[in-house]
Amino acid sequence: MPTKVVLGAQWGDEGKAKIVDYLTADADIVVRFQGGANAGHTVKVGEETYIFHALPVGVLYDNTVCVVGNGVVLDPESLFEEIDELAERGVDVTGRVLVSASAHVVMPYHKALDRAAEESQGAGKIGTTGRGIGPAYRDKVTRTHGVRVMDLLEPSRLRDKLEPAIAASNQVLTAIYGAEPLEAEPIIDLYKTYGERLSPFATDASVYLNQALDDGKLVLFEGAQGTLLDIDHGTYPFVTSSNTTAGGVCTGSGVGPTRIDEVIGVVKAYMTRVGNGPFPTELTGAEGDHIRELGQEYGATTGRPRRCGWFDATIGRMSARTNSLTGLAVTRLDILDTLEKLQVCTAYKRGGETLEEFPADPRVLAECEPVYEEIAGWCEPTTAARTYDELPAGARAYVERLSELSRTPVKMVSVGPERDATIVV
Ligand code: IMO
Ligand code: MG
Repeated sequence: MPTKVVLGAQWGDEGKAKIVDYLTADADIVVRFQGGANAGHTVKVGEETYIFHALPVGVLYDNTVCVVGNGVVLDPESLFEEIDELAERGVDVTGRVLVSASAHVVMPYHKALDRAAEESQGAGKIGTTGRGIGPAYRDKVTRTHGVRVMDLLEPSRLRDKLEPAIAASNQVLTAIYGAEPLEAEPIIDLYKTYGERLSPFATDASVYLNQALDDGKLVLFEGAQGTLLDIDHGTYPFVTSSNTTAGGVCTGSGVGPTRIDEVIGVVKAYMTRVGNGPFPTELTGAEGDHIRELGQEYGATTGRPRRCGWFDATIGRMSARTNSLTGLAVTRLDILDTLEKLQVCTAYKRGGETLEEFPADPRVLAECEPVYEEIAGWCEPTTAARTYDELPAGARAYVERLSELSRTPVKMVSVGPERDATIVV
């Protein structure tokens, strides 16, 4: 059984959850390996819509075990809210959720620091989700105050970690940002109860996953955010704080690269971005508004309107390269059904020069103009198609052009939010 990774090949919100949900039908285990509750993964099952921030979407299948890997920054508040809401809706996750004891924990002061830092930035702000992601990863990397799941499991250990961590955060909050300090005792009490509740979930996820792979189990890795939000390869500094690319699977779960067989890059048939930073094919006028309304492009985590634009194949190639993509899953093709003319960015022009590769330097990127190829729309609904051949010829031609320019074969096409609105090519 192949081990598969599903990750975002653009700026997040590509429809990863829909693809992961579809593939979970054959999976034994679904793993989140990076990011945290900044993710907003939406799945539609029949009339029910579920939005996941902390849990892998695989929990919707009764027999799937869901693992939160060490690379995730875990927000227990978000995790338990989701578990409780699922229980109210009749989805029982008991015994099916495992959390790496090595995962770092998002604390209330991480959220306060995230928001305070953003407010202090004014126009230059990143536009984060405010979920405390950057400060939690910062504490992990600077190593002085990082709190891991294993620290929550023992009250005295938790207190030893939290007292100095809260004091240090309060200094930054008050002296640098002029914000209110946080009270230590309520946080320590709250995280003590989280620790008690987390203790049956906590495990060595690397041991668990490698054993499962030895036993022939099918493991699916669920990426969050997208390639261009990767801390190393994305449009820095307008990125998130984790490795969203395929390498993050290994460091974030304790499974080595030779155990991974397939890497599916999820791409929207057009493109969106939420938050600040460069977006060469952005449509700022009426055309962008039209796509936003057609696609109802508003953030699942923050409700913010998403910036919309044309498909950018330089980004497709960049994602194929940094992730060693074995296939593309093209989502939201149906959103383009009514458009008469489509544009695809094939490369960039900078001065007299043509750039085939996405530039890593933001100053170079800022000087780039997209080179567009016009493609005729198909102007027919794709929503009823369930096989590739049932798609209108124009829609197939469009998908094939995206694939060719991105140098990656198309493996799946999504033509609606429902589970069955999925075409396996
Ligand atoms: P899913 O998994 C889209 C963006 C934020 C901001 C930047 C940094 O649903 O695709 P952060 O809170 O991570 O420090 O914010 O990253 N961002 C996302 N954009 N989809 C997401 O997740 C995102 N998670 C973070 O808007 O620009
Ligand atoms: Mg999202």
